[in-house]
Amino acid sequence: MIKTNNISFTFKEFDTVEELESSDRELVKSASEAALNAYAPYSGFRVGAAVRLASGIIVTGSNVENAAFPSGICAERNALSNASANHPGNIPMVLAVAAITEAGNSYEPVSPCGNCRQVIAEEEIRSGKSIRIILSSKNKIQVIEQGGDLLPLQFSRNNLPVTPC
Ligand code: THU
Repeated sequence: MIKTNNISFTFKEFDTVEELESSDRELVKSASEAALNAYAPYSGFRVGAAVRLASGIIVTGSNVENAAFPSGICAERNALSNASANHPGNIPMVLAVAAITEAGNSYEPVSPCGNCRQVIAEEEIRSGKSIRIILSSKNKIQVIEQGGDLLPLQFSRNNLPVTPC
């Protein structure tokens, strides 16, 4: 018997960062500033990410590329790893992403790559809390309430044959 399934999700879109609440505006600003610290000599694409932790503090990351291309890391994973390593137990609640070009903030929002989506999803499972994602740009801000929505049918610890500790 064939079943046809459907997965969909809803997200909000704003025209400018001014329409966000002040703590989210602050987070987007931190992400844009973090992009200035990117090391992106190969792509020239500088990305910054800022994570708001449950305590309210902000932890940032930027992309760091490498001549051995796969050794580079995206801004999102850099920020989330930074938070995990330096603020254990302080749960990531909101993640903002911004990219800069020579003309300033990018015109289109930057969406996390597949690797980053997998890591965001694991952080949500780990903490039991959803992470709100804010993808910002000059002309458009997209807000996704739950990072896992960006990775339907995700691989997770539940797929592993042995229950991890
Ligand atoms: N990149 C990020 O840091 N985050 C994203 O969401 C998309 C891509 C980086 C990886 C690489 O250094 C450069 O942007 C071009 O792909």
